Formats: sequence, structure tokens, C-alpha cells
Amino acid sequence: MAFMGKTKGFVFLASIAVLAFAIGCGSEEPETGGTTTGGGATQMVAAKDVEDVLLQHCMPCHAGAEAKEKLNLETVAGLLKGSEHGAMVVPGDAANSVVVHALHGTNGKKKMPPAQGKPLTDAQIKLIEDWINAGAKPS
Ligand code: HEC
Repeated sequence: MAFMGKTKGFVFLASIAVLAFAIGCGSEEPETGGTTTGGGATQMVAAKDVEDVLLQHCMPCHAGAEAKEKLNLETVAGLLKGSEHGAMVVPGDAANSVVVHALHGTNGKKKMPPAQGKPLTDAQIKLIEDWINAGAKPS
């Protein structure tokens, strides 16, 4: 019995350590620089232009109470809010943004829009990537 008690105590302490570590990681501030360094190909993009693309190509399925994955794409604010699975945009980092994975159909994400939707041109995809890389400003 004494042995069991010690084991439990150790497991308890170990969980605390893991928890403290997780909290420590979570509090790290992501870098949200307004500009990107290197490449030089990033254009400044107005949030309004991104919104126009979302309205034309995404809104049919991502709007209102029936929005797929609870991801509302009627506005840029909705995109920044994310889906029921969390954030879709990492400001300053398009390559790690779920919405960009969805636009390319990479990282296990279903390609957006799906076959029945209106596909984006490469320029429209780049527009969204540039907007994210420039800090994903809401307006
Ligand atoms: C024809 C309907 C339709 C259109 C149009 C559409 N989507 Fe989707 N979207 C879906 C469905 C359905 C899912 C769930 C996919 C699955 O099975 O994982 C989804 C999922 C997503 C996800 C993943 C959400 C998550 O929580 O993982 C993202 C991001 C996304 N869509 C972005 C877009 C963007 C951006 C556009 C416009 C360029 C768009 N979608 C257009 C139907 C649509």
C-alpha cells in the first residue's frame, strides 16, 4: 500500500509538471509583425479585397447558423475568429495557416472551395496569403 501511495504521488507531481509546461508554452506570444522579411514578394493587401473573394467563393457554404465547421466567411472578422476547431489564420505566417492549407488542399485539409464551388484563381489565393503574411489586419 505504501508503494502504491508513492506511485500515485509521483504521477500527481508529474502531471503538475506537464501542466505547468503546457501553460508556459501557451503563454508565448506569437510574433505579429506587420511586415515580412525576405522574399520581398509580399504585397500589401486590403482586408476589403480579401472579403470580396470570401463573399464570392466561400460565403455560400460558410455563412449564418449553417456555416460549415461554424466557420463564417461573410467577413474577414469571421475568418479571423476561426472555426469550431480553432484559429484558421496565423497572422504573419500563411504557410502555417489552416485556411491556406484548405485553399491548396494540403496538410490533410479538404480543398476549398469543394468541387461544387467556384474555384479561386492562383492570384486570388496569393492575395489571401499576402494578406496573412502582412499581419492579417482586420481592416
Ligand atoms: C460548396 C460548399 C463550400 C464552399 C463554397 C466552401 N467551403 Fe469550406 N468547407 C465546406 C465543407 C463541407 C467543409 C468541411 C470539410 C470536411 O469534411 O472536413 C469546409 C471546411 C473548410 C475549412 C476547414 C475548417 C476547419 O475547422 O478545419 C476551411 C478553412 C474552409 N472550409 C475554408 C473555405 C474557404 C476559404 C472557402 C472559399 C475560398 C470555402 N471554404 C468554400 C464547404 C464549402
